[in-house]
Amino acid sequence: MIIIHTLLIIANVYYLRAQPENNTTICPLQDPAVMNFRKYLEIDTSRSENLYKAVDFLRSLSSEIGLDFAVYTPAGIPICVLTWPGVDPSLPSIMLNSHMDVVEADEARWKYPPFAAHVDENCNVYARGAQDTKDVGILYIEAIRRLKKQNAALNRTIHITFMPAMNFTVMGTGGHGFLMPGDVAVEKLQRLLDVMLNYRKSLREAVASEEPTNYGPYTSLNINIINVNSWAEYAGEGTKLEFLRQEMESSATSVDDNNPYWVTLKNTINELGVKLVPIICPATSDMLFVRNYGIPALGFVPVFRTTQKLHQDNEYINLGIFLHGIDIYEAVIRNLGNLPRIL
Ligand SMILES: *[C@@H]1O[C@H](CO)[C@@H](O)[C@H](O)[C@H]1NC(C)=O
Ligand SMILES: *[C@@H]1O[C@H](CO)[C@@H](O)[C@H](O)[C@H]1NC(C)=O
Ligand SMILES: *[C@@H]1O[C@H](CO)[C@@H](O)[C@H](O)[C@H]1NC(C)=O
Ligand SMILES: *[C@@H]1O[C@H](CO)[C@@H](O)[C@H](O)[C@H]1NC(C)=O
Repeated sequence: MIIIHTLLIIANVYYLRAQPENNTTICPLQDPAVMNFRKYLEIDTSRSENLYKAVDFLRSLSSEIGLDFAVYTPAGIPICVLTWPGVDPSLPSIMLNSHMDVVEADEARWKYPPFAAHVDENCNVYARGAQDTKDVGILYIEAIRRLKKQNAALNRTIHITFMPAMNFTVMGTGGHGFLMPGDVAVEKLQRLLDVMLNYRKSLREAVASEEPTNYGPYTSLNINIINVNSWAEYAGEGTKLEFLRQEMESSATSVDDNNPYWVTLKNTINELGVKLVPIICPATSDMLFVRNYGIPALGFVPVFRTTQKLHQDNEYINLGIFLHGIDIYEAVIRNLGNLPRIL
């Protein structure tokens, strides 16, 4: 009793001191989910040598919540899998995916150091990965912490997976290299740029005709309708087009009433007063691999009213909005985890 009382007093003193400096009263800095999020953001996982720090962090979070923890290294780099076994293990499981690595950040261009997880006066936390995708990883874990606290036992097994290879993903979403030997390389490049600029112009027209959030139909380099090889011809002889990654085909996951996973996701979100508008998002390339195994895959990030800062300088997220995401994932995971067998 005495020990607990003493601890409470110390906590209160800290609280009062912190208040004028950084607005602790409004900003939930002491919330465990926020503290875990900031710890995770502080690990510079743009560097491969730090990936195991993230693995250690996730391992300790996992044991705190009471989840099974496994690390796989299929390509020499670690993938973490946190597992909450379901009541009926014969049911297909639900996999919640995110990346633990982040793209690099040029500190000189940031307001605050990209791995300091600084919280400003508006309760925004600045860090590389704040939106892409360390927020999502922590939101999954914290939603499951809450479900476990309520003694909810879900019928399906839940796996939370943390992938390590964003570097590959980033280059794979549309990068291509050109080799231009010979002394007229610049002219070739000029011709090629003209073709690409014209193409870009047509994309802009497509953009204008779409909803602002629907960037699927016109982010184009892995869409086969465009014959990218013909571009090399414009550049002239001796030009070679090299794909870092090329997908000729990918299976789709339907977003209609025939897909119970989609219906469950949509209904859960709708019940929380939010309307979902499905889009095609070419950047989420992990899903491509999963879908090619015939497994339905959907992407959903419960982060509202936020300017997209993916891969940009000064990436940030508001901590209030971040915390709201836990409520939403909690409902989504509960309903998907209890989705009956699909016959
Ligand atoms: C808030 O202020 C306290 C006391 O000055 C400091 O220890 C803490 O790191 C600050 N928190 C943030 C998020 O800046
Ligand atoms: C990403 O690529 C850069 C440059 O090759 C490398 O320095 C960095 O360690 C890589 N990051 C990860 C997480 O693999
Ligand atoms: C604290 O944050 C709230 C919410 O952003 C803001 O309205 C308020 O003015 C801030 N107070 C101080 C003392 O900075
Ligand atoms: C779990 O599965 C059993 C057997 O199919 C079913 O009776 C029960 O209602 C399910 N639980 C929930 C919470 O949906």
